Order: sequence, then structure tokens, then C-alpha cells
Amino acid sequence: MYNTWLVIASITFVGCLWNSQLTETSSKSCPTECICLSQTQVLCNTGGLEKIPLRQLPATVENLALTKNNFPVIKPDSFAGLRALKKLSLDGNNITKVKQFAFRGLPRLKELSIQYTPLQSVTSFAFAGLQNLSTILLSHNQISRIETHAFAGTSNVKLILLSNNPLIKIDTSAFSSLTNVGHVIFPSGIRTIEPDAFNGMDTVGLLKLAYMDLKEVQPFTFRGLTNVLLLTLQESDLGIICTDAFTGLSQVETLQILNNKIDSIEELNFTYTANIKHLKMHGNHILETPDPNAIIVDGVEHLQLVNNHFPCGCHIHTLLDGPLVEGGHNLSEFLQKNFCISPLDVNGRSMIELDIDAIGRCQDQLTKGNLGSSASSMALSLCTLVLISLTTNHFVKYLVFLLVLGSMTVPHDTYS
Ligand SMILES: *[C@@H]1O[C@H](CO)[C@@H](O)[C@H](O)[C@H]1NC(C)=O
Ligand SMILES: *[C@@H]1O[C@H](CO)[C@@H](O)[C@H](O)[C@H]1NC(C)=O
Ligand SMILES: *[C@@H]1O[C@H](CO)[C@@H](O)[C@H](O)[C@H]1NC(C)=O
Ligand SMILES: *[C@@H]1O[C@H](CO)[C@@H](O)[C@H](O)[C@H]1NC(C)=O
Repeated sequence: MYNTWLVIASITFVGCLWNSQLTETSSKSCPTECICLSQTQVLCNTGGLEKIPLRQLPATVENLALTKNNFPVIKPDSFAGLRALKKLSLDGNNITKVKQFAFRGLPRLKELSIQYTPLQSVTSFAFAGLQNLSTILLSHNQISRIETHAFAGTSNVKLILLSNNPLIKIDTSAFSSLTNVGHVIFPSGIRTIEPDAFNGMDTVGLLKLAYMDLKEVQPFTFRGLTNVLLLTLQESDLGIICTDAFTGLSQVETLQILNNKIDSIEELNFTYTANIKHLKMHGNHILETPDPNAIIVDGVEHLQLVNNHFPCGCHIHTLLDGPLVEGGHNLSEFLQKNFCISPLDVNGRSMIELDIDAIGRCQDQLTKGNLGSSASSMALSLCTLVLISLTTNHFVKYLVFLLVLGSMTVPHDTYS
């Protein structure tokens, strides 16, 4: 009798327990389209969701995947209330717009992934308010533009991945207020970087700009960019490096200019205030000899010029007497490690193979009065060519330059 009562009592107790568990589970419900692996991990992948099921999600969720649904627009405060969220994936959605403050109210979010979507631009203040964000993955989208203040309101970001986007333009202040950034990885094919594009970026690990097709590196492109471990411009057509291109860039551990084609260098001015520790110019094809008066490398601690190609016509004397060669190397080392781009008969040859003394000085160096007009007419024709050949293919453009350069320098040689 006593035993039976005990059994009944314990069944009732277990039943109550069961019941209370049930009600508790339903209060922390899981959206029907999702799988709640736990109260902290929710997967809503390929669920055919049309809107974010904010109310049905457990407020404790830390890891939320909403991939391959159908959210065309991520509205302001789309995830408000998910204060525990650390990792959010919106990959593979039909996202065309992320509105400003879309992710506001997520103080703990560390990783945000929006990849493989048709997203075309990064709106101003899209990521504002994400104080703890360390990774922004934006690869494989259709981003062609990063608007001013796109990343405003985020700092301490370790990685911004922008690879595999048709990005052609970086607007002024696109990266403003991004302090303490680890790596920013850009896609190939950038055609315009506006002045002050990186202004306000402070304490950056790696800023890598590769495979660009620029008409010019505009004045003040890098102004306001400070404390950079490594800034690298590589495998690109840099066009003309304009006066003041690097003015306002300061405290750089290493600036690399690697394997680029450079039509001309109007000015390269690194004074002591720039404080560039290493300037490495490797493997570049520089089509025009820079004016020695326009090159200042006093503020560079270690200058390294290796495997570059320069014109070896009459202007070679200007180069060899100039600060680029003086600043980094002794003459014989420079001649050993750098090559000729023109005239055509010495193209690709190491400079050490040349009989430098047998190369006459240019006419403009002999009759100094001529210097200004000759240099400017050359620059003018290069600029015109840049414009004309903007749409033509890279290789053809390059050949045209070679030919024009050859024809320009050869007559000067024969003159003297
Ligand atoms: C994506 O969104 C666009 C515009 O909102 C819509 O026309 C299109 O049908 C959507 N595609 C898919 C696969 O949902
Ligand atoms: C931000 O992240 C750090 C390190 O992971 C953590 O200690 C801190 O509590 C986080 N801040 C917030 C508001 O959660
Ligand atoms: C180089 O930069 C310094 C300071 O930024 C400036 O005062 C100087 O005029 C510049 N020199 C040339 C040749 O542009
Ligand atoms: C120049 O550099 C080369 C190679 O580094 C070295 O062998 C040579 O002694 C140097 N010459 C002078 C004059 O410093």
C-alpha cells in the first residue's frame, strides 16, 4: 500500500517535471524553419525564410547561421535583442542592401559573414555600433563601391575580407574611424582610389592593394593613414604617381611597391615626418626617369631597389646621379640588380652590362633651358596615351608605351 502510494507520487512528480520542462522549452522556442542545436547555437540554413525570425529565436543564441534564405534587405536593427550573439552568417542570401545600423545592438558580435550574395555596395554606417567585431567577411559578393564611413563605428577589427568583388572605386574616408585593424584584403581590379580614401585609419597591420588598374595614384591618396606595419602596392598598373600621392602617410614600418607598372613618378616625397622605416621597390617597370628634384627619400631608413626596370637612354645619367640610387645602394650594386626597359635594343638587360660612359647625356641636360618644356611635353604625351588606351588591353598598352619611350629617348642619344 505504502509502496503503491510512493509509485503514484513519483509518477506525478516526474509528470510535473516533464510538464514544466515542456513549457520551458516552448518559451525558448525554436523557429520551425531552424534547427536549434542548443540554446546558443541555431541553424536556419535553406529554410526559405523571408524575414529574420527574431521573436522565435532564443535570446541566448551565440552562433546563428541564416544562410541561403531570402532576405533582400537587412533593415536597421534587424537583430536587436540578440545581445549574446557572437557569430552571425548571412551567406548565400538574396541580399541587395544592408541598411545603416543593420546590426545595432549586438555588443558581443565577433564575426559577421555576408558572402556569396548579390550585395553591391557597403552603405555608410552599415556596421556601426559593433564595438566588439573582429572579423567582417565580405568576399564573393557584387560589391563595386565602399561608401564614405562604411566601417564607421567599428574598431579593433582584425580582418576585413573583400576579395572576389568587382570593386572599382574606393571613396574618400571609406575606412574612416577604423582604428586598430589587422588585415584589409582588397579584391583585384580597383580603378580609382579617391584622395583620403584611408584617412582616419590608425594602427593597421596589413593593407594590401594588388591587381589594380589605376590611371594614377592621386594626390593625398594615403593622407591620414598612420601606424602601418605593412602597406603594399603590388602587381598593379599604378599609372602616374602624382605629386603628393603619399603626402600625409606616416609611421610606416614597411612600404612595398612590388611588380607594378608605373608610367611616371611626378614626385616621391618621404621626409622625416613620414617616418618610413623600409621602402622596398622591387620588380617595377618604371617607364619614365623621375626628375631627381622630385625625389626625396630622407625620411626612409632603409631603401631597397631591386629588379626594377628603368629607361636606359640618355636619362640614365639623371637616374644614377639621383637620390633613388644614392639613397639605397652603392652604384655597382644598383647596376647589378636593376634592368633596362628602353631603348628596345637593351630592353631586359641588366644595367651592369651597359657602357654607361658611352651613353650620351640628354639634350635637355646639356641645354638646361630646355628641361621644363621637354619634360612637360613628354608627360603630356604620356597622359594622353593613358586616356586613349584606357579601354585597350593591358599588354597592347604596355607595348605602345615601350615603343613611344624608345622613339623618344633614341633621338636624344644620337643628338649628343
Ligand atoms: C531576389 O530578390 C529579387 C529582388 O527582391 C527578386 O526579384 C528575386 O526573385 C529574388 N531571387 C530569389 C532567388 O529569391
Ligand atoms: C568583447 O570581447 C572581449 C574579448 O573577447 C570580451 O572580454 C568583452 O567582454 C566583450 N565585450 C562585450 C561588450 O561583450
Ligand atoms: C616634401 O614634403 C615636405 C613636407 O611634407 C614639404 O615641406 C616639401 O615642400 C616637399 N618637397 C617637395 C619637393 O615637394
Ligand atoms: C658595393 O656593394 C657590393 C655588393 O653589396 C659590395 O661587394 C661592394 O664592396 C660595395 N662597394 C662599395 C664601394 O661600398
